[in-house]
This record gives sequence, C-alpha cells and structure tokens, in this order.
Amino acid sequence: MSFGKMPIANGFLTADQVASEYFFELAPAFCSHCLMFQLIEQPACEKMFHDSYAFFSSTSRHMQMHFESFADLVMSRYFKGRIDPFVVELGSNDGIMLRHFKDAGFRHLGIEPSGNVADVARSRGIQTLSEFYNLELANRLVAEHGHADAVLAANVMCHIPDINAVAAGIARLIKPDGVLLFEDPYLGDMIAKTSYDQIYDEHVFIFSAASVGWAFGQHGLELIDVMPQVTHGGSMRYVLARKGSHPVSPAVVALLEKERSQGLHKPETYAQFRRDCEASRNALRELLESLQRKGKRVVGYGATSKSTTVTNYCGIGPGHIEFVSDTTPIKQGKLTPGSHIPVKPYEDFLKSPPDYALLFAWNHAAEIFEKEKTFRAGGGKWITFVPKVGIIE
Ligand code: TYD
Repeated sequence: MSFGKMPIANGFLTADQVASEYFFELAPAFCSHCLMFQLIEQPACEKMFHDSYAFFSSTSRHMQMHFESFADLVMSRYFKGRIDPFVVELGSNDGIMLRHFKDAGFRHLGIEPSGNVADVARSRGIQTLSEFYNLELANRLVAEHGHADAVLAANVMCHIPDINAVAAGIARLIKPDGVLLFEDPYLGDMIAKTSYDQIYDEHVFIFSAASVGWAFGQHGLELIDVMPQVTHGGSMRYVLARKGSHPVSPAVVALLEKERSQGLHKPETYAQFRRDCEASRNALRELLESLQRKGKRVVGYGATSKSTTVTNYCGIGPGHIEFVSDTTPIKQGKLTPGSHIPVKPYEDFLKSPPDYALLFAWNHAAEIFEKEKTFRAGGGKWITFVPKVGIIE
C-alpha cells in the first residue's frame, strides 16, 4: 500500500526551507512469513533524529502519569530481590520515565540520540548517552557498567529499522534472568480503528505479539507477558526474556489467539485496511471541503507526527485549516511538513477559538476534552477521524 510522497513527520519547517523539503514514499507492506507490518523505505535515521528533534515526551500530563506507572511496575515486579539493579532505557527522550529510577536511587542509563531532548534529561540529573543503540554499543555498556537487569523502550523499538542489531544488542546486554520491556502502537488497534496515521517515517514497524515473538525469537528471547495500553491510541507493552528463564503468562497465548481471530496473519485483512483508509480519507476531505464552502473556521489541534500522514495523504492544506495549535515551542512559528499549515502557540487557539477543531492529537482526547470544556461550551465543535470521521457536537 502507498500513502504517496511524504515528508519527515516531525520535520516542521520555515518558509525558506520549503523548496528543499525532503520527501520519500510512505509505503507499508505485510509479510505473511514473519507476520511483520513495516515500511518498505525509511529515510536515513539522521534525517529524523537529531539535535533539533521536535518531540518532547513530557508535553502531556497523562503521558507523565503513564510513565510513572510504567517505572513503578518495573521496580515493584522486575527489581524484586535484585541487588543494586541496573536499568537501561533506549530512546529515553527528556527522561520522562528514567527520572523515577533516578529519584528512587537506582543505577540507570538513557540512550538518546537526539541531542536536544537528551540535554533536557541531563539537566535533570538523568544519566544519558547520545548515541544510536547497536551491538557495538551494547558491548561497551557491558564493559563499562555490567549487564542490565531491565532494558526498557517506549515508542522507540518500532523506530529502529535494524531490529536484528538491536535485538542482538539487547540479548547481549541483559543478565541471564534480565528482562526487556517495550511498548509501541499496536497493530491490532490500528487495523480495528483505521488509525492509519500511526504510519509515518519514524514508525518503521507496527508490531503485533506474533511479529515481536518471531523477530526477538531469532535472538534467543521469548515473549513472557503482554499488557495492552491506552496510550497513543492503543499500544501494547511486550515483556521478553531469555527463552526458558521466566514462565510465559497465559496473556501471551490469549493475545496470539486473538490476533489470529482478528485475521492479523492474513493478507486480505490489509487489503481491507487499505480500502478503509481510502474511505476515511474521502470522508475527511469531503467534510473539510463542505465546512470551507460554508465559510467555517477550522483549526488543527496538536501538530502531531501522525498529522503529517493525515494532511499529506488526504490533501489537506492551509485552505482547509487556518493553523494548527501546539504547545511545543520548537514547532510554533513553523509550517507543518508537506502540507505547510502554520503552527501557532496554544494561546492563539484560546484567543480566537475556531468553529471547529480538528483533533489531530486524538490519542490525548480524554486529557484535551477535559481541558477544553470552555471551547465546547462556547459552541466549538470537534472533528475526529479515528475510528470514524465525524463531528462531536
Ligand atoms: P502525540 O500525539 O503525543 O504524538 P505523535 O507526535 O507521536 O503523533 O503529540 C502530541 C502533540 O500535541 C505534541 O506536539 C503536543 C501537542 N499537544 C497540545 O498541543 N496540547 C495538548 O493538550 C496535548 C495533550 C498535546
């Protein structure tokens, strides 16, 4: 399936950068052998993760609470009975999760290649290395710090194209009874909700329990537990360990069966997904065009990475959306990638509330609806597109 030419999802740009904007073909595919859903072509990682990376994890209050409970689970369940445990997090961003290990006095290390977000973590006293993770780095970490009790990654594993290098590096880094916990947007949710906006340059894989089990199984690791999460519109937390070192939870077997009954192993499921994406695109375009004809003001809410796929795939531009409101300073005053809609500070949304707000950050709907009661009370309406295109009155 192809979503057409796409820019870097977090590549917010200034007007003078438009002429040299980089595009690649966003085309996912499904392999019926290893059951992986992945991009065929991905831009070089340095184009996506660098010293002006635009995504700061701590912008959402719900995500802060989520990572506190993730850290609590690791400490209470997987650190029990261990002496001086050591935790490594891949893609630790601004330290949203590791700060809890630091505060509890545990040995920790973040690996975060985007220098600007890593600097924020370092300024908070969180040990952070700015490098890409691979087997060579794993060897260095073992030599310098010893083996890890737990390796963690949140919304990061699906970003790394050389999954074999990372899996081999993790198998090298963890202790014989160590664990790997990671979570990412879940394929089962994406298919069920037609949330095609999970597909963008950074997400080279959209994992399922079946594909994770297969990929990490190549490196002697097995899935020992799975825990569904509501974050990012439906994610899965996977727990892996060396084969035979831990009992396998019945939840793993149940999820693998559920994936088969959902048809995640069948190519026809993805052919249907493509048709669902096309129908969603047509419906959103028609809705925005009808509002445009009626002279309504529409503003985007949240300049998410996901919205880059939506605006570019659906052909949405400044003619449909006046601006996109976002609380992240580095995105403000820039243009959205490919679609070139101005990104403005949240204060602009408050100053001049539109008739309709297109909820690009739909994964934060609960937090946002709670915050924006005044917008709705004043007659403002929300436009959503996941799981269906529609207006919330
Ligand atoms: P998010 O949906 O977490 O991620 P992704 O980039 O992975 O698609 O991005 C949320 C964006 O929305 C982020 O730029 C911050 C912004 N945002 C707001 O502007 N206001 C809010 O209330 C929230 C929760 C997020």
